[in-house]
Amino acid sequence: MLKEIQNKAEKAIVEAKTLKELNRVFKDFLGKKGELSLVLRGLKNLSSEEKAKQGKESNELKESLSIKFKEREDEISLGDQSSKEKGIDVTIPGKKPLMGHLSPLTQVKRQIMDIFGGMGFEVVDGPEIEKEWYNFDALNIPKNHPARDAWDTFWLKGEEPLLLRTHTSPSQIRYMEKHEPPLRIISPGKGFRHEATDASHEMQFYQVEGLMIGEGVSAANFKAVVKQFFEKFFKQSINVRFTPDFFPFTEPSFEVAMSCLICDGKGCPACKNTGWIEIGGAGMVHPNVLKACELDSSKWQGWAFGFGIDRLAMMKYKINDIRLFHSGDLRFLNQF
Ligand code: DAH
Repeated sequence: MLKEIQNKAEKAIVEAKTLKELNRVFKDFLGKKGELSLVLRGLKNLSSEEKAKQGKESNELKESLSIKFKEREDEISLGDQSSKEKGIDVTIPGKKPLMGHLSPLTQVKRQIMDIFGGMGFEVVDGPEIEKEWYNFDALNIPKNHPARDAWDTFWLKGEEPLLLRTHTSPSQIRYMEKHEPPLRIISPGKGFRHEATDASHEMQFYQVEGLMIGEGVSAANFKAVVKQFFEKFFKQSINVRFTPDFFPFTEPSFEVAMSCLICDGKGCPACKNTGWIEIGGAGMVHPNVLKACELDSSKWQGWAFGFGIDRLAMMKYKINDIRLFHSGDLRFLNQF
């Protein structure tokens, strides 16, 4: 009989899900009218021998059941608390917070600023929404000039013709307008062109503009600065190539290319099997540009360049498709 009560009670205790249910079970077995209490009360009708035996066993059962009730009560209330109040279980292993990091383009941009900063160049900024004057006219690209076709432009609707700058060159004008030479600046930032994308062209790209104006600043001087920049940036000696080119804002103008680091100059799809990667354009600042900034072109001269930051990053990290930078693909981004 006691064994039966014990089994039933233990089962009910374990099955109780809430404190309310547990109380009910307690009443059923240990309450005033509970099963075990009835047994205890019935003892008085037994022989003294039986009474002693049954009495002892009943009391032991009462004690062991009381302990089990208490344990179950703790279990339930702890569970309630953790689900209600999200109580802290210090034994659960911690969750590692996901940390972001700088995109490879930002990292490269900062390295470029550091290197030129070390050579005494000031870093200046310019607006991405630009006036026609800064993006074209002051750069010796007048209205209806065919050279404008080289820059497929996103024009903005409005009374005054505004555009998304097609290169970082307007930063030169903005700076020269306000500062007297000698001057040395770089201006990194975004450019936008309305053109088809492929492995080496994006509608949105990063450039770094460079400008050095002074007395007797020469193309030889440009070559030396660029060589030094490349070597610091790539931390190795780099073959740099200057070939004649045309830009309305420089005369003479050159294209700047470096030997492809993806194939070591042997030829691969990234360099279209030429072994050379075009990094940007450069040249001696055109007198008309200096005039547009009200600088005396008989006194001052200098050079300017515009390099593709994306191109530099592609060479540094041996990336063969420019579109990966903006793809938001974490498998790509997490490698930097
Ligand atoms: N702005 C030119 C482009 O985006 C690149 C360039 C060429 C910049 C020659 C210069 C320069 O400053 O001198 O195509």
